[in-house]
Amino acid sequence: MSNTAPRNILVTSALPYANGDIHLGHLLEYIQTDIWVRFQKSRGQRCFYVCADDAHGTAIMLRAEQEGITPEALIERVSNAHQADFAKFGVGFDNYHSTHSEENRYFSGQIYTRLRDKGHIATRDIEQMFDPVKGLFLADRFIKGTCPKCKADDQYGDNCEKCGATYTPAELIDPVSAISGATPEVKSSTHYFFKLPEFSAFLQQWINDGHVQPQIRNKLMEWFESGFNEWDISRDAPYFGFEIPDAPGKYFYVWLDAPIGYLASFKNLCEREGIDFDSFWEKDSEAEVYHFIGKDIVYFHALFWPAMLHGADMRTPTAVNCHGFLTVDGAKMSKSRGTFIKAATYAEHLNPEYLRYYFAAKLSAGVDDLDLNLDDFSARVNSDLVGKVVNIASRCAGFVKKLGGGTLSADCAEQALVERFIDAGDDIARDFEAREFGRAMRKIMELADEANTYIADKAPWALAKEEGREQEVLDICSVGINLFRQLMVYLAPVVPAMAIEAQRFLKLERLDWQSRTTVLTDHAIEKFKPLMTRIERDKIDAMIEASKEDLVEEQKLKQAPKGPLADEPIADEIGFDDFAKVDLRIARIAKAQYVEGADKLLQLTLDLGGETRNVFSGIRSAYSPEALEGRLTVMVANLAPRKMRFGMSEGMVLAAGDDEGIYLMSPDSGAKPGQRVM
Ligand code: 2FM
Ligand code: ZN
Repeated sequence: MSNTAPRNILVTSALPYANGDIHLGHLLEYIQTDIWVRFQKSRGQRCFYVCADDAHGTAIMLRAEQEGITPEALIERVSNAHQADFAKFGVGFDNYHSTHSEENRYFSGQIYTRLRDKGHIATRDIEQMFDPVKGLFLADRFIKGTCPKCKADDQYGDNCEKCGATYTPAELIDPVSAISGATPEVKSSTHYFFKLPEFSAFLQQWINDGHVQPQIRNKLMEWFESGFNEWDISRDAPYFGFEIPDAPGKYFYVWLDAPIGYLASFKNLCEREGIDFDSFWEKDSEAEVYHFIGKDIVYFHALFWPAMLHGADMRTPTAVNCHGFLTVDGAKMSKSRGTFIKAATYAEHLNPEYLRYYFAAKLSAGVDDLDLNLDDFSARVNSDLVGKVVNIASRCAGFVKKLGGGTLSADCAEQALVERFIDAGDDIARDFEAREFGRAMRKIMELADEANTYIADKAPWALAKEEGREQEVLDICSVGINLFRQLMVYLAPVVPAMAIEAQRFLKLERLDWQSRTTVLTDHAIEKFKPLMTRIERDKIDAMIEASKEDLVEEQKLKQAPKGPLADEPIADEIGFDDFAKVDLRIARIAKAQYVEGADKLLQLTLDLGGETRNVFSGIRSAYSPEALEGRLTVMVANLAPRKMRFGMSEGMVLAAGDDEGIYLMSPDSGAKPGQRVM
């Protein structure tokens, strides 16, 4: 390896949106990528890792407006917060930029112009919902109305949360703009399209050439069978983004300039450090380019992006490396359960390197979801990093200090053993290279077990009590320190902060992969300080509690500027008489059952103190029938009956809810079925 020229490698992670905090779900990707990059650097490759904030689009424009600041101010604040979070977790970008940058404007214009000049861009008029008050076209998620199928009100423009129907916003009954509350108009405007179907043959070949994982290839092939549409790459003003060069008032859709942001960030780095940008991106470049992404954005990275690059006469990625989603304790991260954990909240309670190690121990090259099981997390970190690895150094360092004055033996007493640890590095390197980090961690921990067994068998603490065996004890502990050093070389990409401490303790200039081949003899080391402490369960619990508080804070913030731009505008004022028309009653849930063919509904039999009602309620995701039977809740008792596919619904139970959870109302104890609620 040392004689061959280093590989030129450019690596990216997906660009986080500039309107939200970094959470553990994001970190799975950045940590995976960072480990791979650190490994490449340790092996002596010329590897660059770039990222940026994904700063454009309607959501960011509206968020800035809601906060009463410019989008530029918003994206700057968020970028600073993102970078602080990444730094805490040791994610070592070589450059962190923004898609709202001059480099990105340049490359977006260049790629678009090349595509246009080669006939890959089409224009045509399309009809869309338009908010006449805000003067902007509305994406489906910004339109609400009554479901055309089940008549549930307050449903989004593309699907009904109550009955699951999908439709177009034009089909909604009484649609309103979720931004201003105005009734949208249908308006036509010219849009620009990237002619993706023209790249079908190219893409089919590209996908079969091993640039994506087998599972992703299979998924993409399914999409090929259903055929591609042209991709709408323009949005009308007002829009926070780049105006299309030859189309005043038309802007590039955020997803057009987001991946181009990879080029922009790299260009920014190249200018700063004198790197030859073109040698990475020209058509026949021999450099390697890898994108690490989540499986939800494969369409953009494995279809649109290579097609755009190919159409613009640029090289395409060497590989798009996909990972699965993060779950916590076996379930989707949940704000109400406190498992939607922000990076900053985690870092206030726990050492980020615990998480880096845990992710590494569970990551493979596949796209399966990864579960952060909080009990397993502490057990594994405590047993592996603290119990096995740190333990080797802490068992040996004292004797080296005492018997060797802090200097290791002049000869290695177990040359063969140390050499076996050195040789194992080739195999471990293959696992790192293949992103089989879990496999690499298992091999490293097997070595750690061997090292501990060696020390336990030799029992230097027992020998030390015997007269005249000092040299033997020093020899054993010097071997132990050498073995520890090998392990830290292999773990350094995973736990870089711990590796820096180990390097300081070992007084080494280098801890890169190649450096491991010289055995440490007659070498002075520093006084040992614990390199990592155990995870305490109460810290995990405190983090969960703090995450629940984060949710409360967020909700307060959301409520504070309640106005036309809040997520859920407060409804029009009503008089007391209107309110008094609603007959709210305490109801006892006498029976609850699943509804065949409806995955969101439960059928409730409600006891109103003498009268019973049949009600279908969309609370199945939050409650099992058993959990409900017998409990009291509040219902609207005078709601006109509604005929549903499954039967007649005679009222409605009250629940609070958002994307994260549903919470059924309960009266205080003492309330009786049938009592009026005032
Ligand atoms: O899904 C997301 O969070 C996007 N902001 C990722 C963009 S990746 C790249 F294309 F820029
Ligand atoms: Zn519906």
